[in-house]
Amino acid sequence: MLRIVFTCLIFIVITVPAATITPIPQNIEYNLNKALLGKKLFNDTRLSSNNTLSCASCHDLQNGGDDNLIFAVGVDGAIGNINTPTVLNSTFNFRQFWDGRAKNLQEQAYGPIENPIEMAHDFSKLIPQLKETEYKNEFSKVYKDGITKKNVANAIAEFEKTLITPNSRFDRYLRGEKEILSNFEKEGYRLFKDKGCITCHHGVNIGGNLYNKFGTLMEIENDNLGRFNVTKNKDDKYYFKVPSLRNIALTSPYFHDGRYYDLESTVTTMALVQLGRPMKQDEILSIVAFLKTLTGELKIIENRKHD
Ligand code: HEC
Ligand code: HEC
Repeated sequence: MLRIVFTCLIFIVITVPAATITPIPQNIEYNLNKALLGKKLFNDTRLSSNNTLSCASCHDLQNGGDDNLIFAVGVDGAIGNINTPTVLNSTFNFRQFWDGRAKNLQEQAYGPIENPIEMAHDFSKLIPQLKETEYKNEFSKVYKDGITKKNVANAIAEFEKTLITPNSRFDRYLRGEKEILSNFEKEGYRLFKDKGCITCHHGVNIGGNLYNKFGTLMEIENDNLGRFNVTKNKDDKYYFKVPSLRNIALTSPYFHDGRYYDLESTVTTMALVQLGRPMKQDEILSIVAFLKTLTGELKIIENRKHD
């Protein structure tokens, strides 16, 4: 027992100082022609079985990159069973989906198109349909082998790379504008580090780079088994990809089951179940104020003007 405690202490001492938050870069590398094609696909309802939904229907880029619903609504009003995460900054996530079942954005993009409670389409029908449209020509200019399932997903993933949100007030603070945050917000950041939120929410996406259990130090009601659904390993029960906290003020409701609309209840729950201790109301409010400084700027790529 003592040895376990000692090992844990060493682990904490070694890992905590390494847990830092880094600003989102101003630019990211991508292929503009593929990304522009991906942008068109992302906004195209022809990707759903009855032409009613596009990726953007559930991932509203101007409003946090999600749908602000508890559960998503798919084709014919089918109700999903998990909260829609944002697509903004998803390129920084180490895996995609709450349970990490897709290893990257390209693999992820196959999912919603064929998911019966999302776009309910079928690639074996979609690809021939797209070949009948202007996409045939557009793909052939960008991909040697034209329209294929892989190239559709690849173009969408290329567009998603561009959806980064630099220049949040917090990132500007990290870059040296020390006066850009109020003292209350700075206090929130200090508590976020000192109380241990940062052990799970860190890196460029302030999350998105590890799995953790929802309810590490206190059991919480939860009807989704999370990562266990993928691995069937009992140690993975109730583990989820730790969500990014970037633009968190825009993406309510919160948690994989959308149980809270407000950040105050969300942070109160995190303190209790992840850190195992209640937090004072003013501490919670300052952490919430800090979280609201994480909203960045989104620039959507545009077609080049013809000369
Ligand atoms: C009906 C609503 C809906 C539509 C349409 C939809 N999504 Fe999603 N999206 C979701 C939900 C719900 C999840 C979470 C599913 C899960 O984790 O099991 C999700 C997850 C994602 C993620 C993972 C983000 C993360 O942090 O794990 C990405 C990326 C994404 N969607 C992109 C897309 C793209 C690209 C399309 C179009 C091809 C699309 N979505 C269409 C609802 C939707
Ligand atoms: C031990 C790891 C861990 C710690 C520590 C932790 N979190 Fe979390 N956080 C998670 C996980 C896992 C989730 C996803 C839970 C779910 O929805 O099932 C989450 C979800 C969240 C969400 C909701 C995000 C969303 O998009 O729905 C917020 C906000 C949040 N955490 C803030 C905090 C704050 C503030 C602290 C410190 C008081 C904290 N977290 C401490 C792991 C952690």
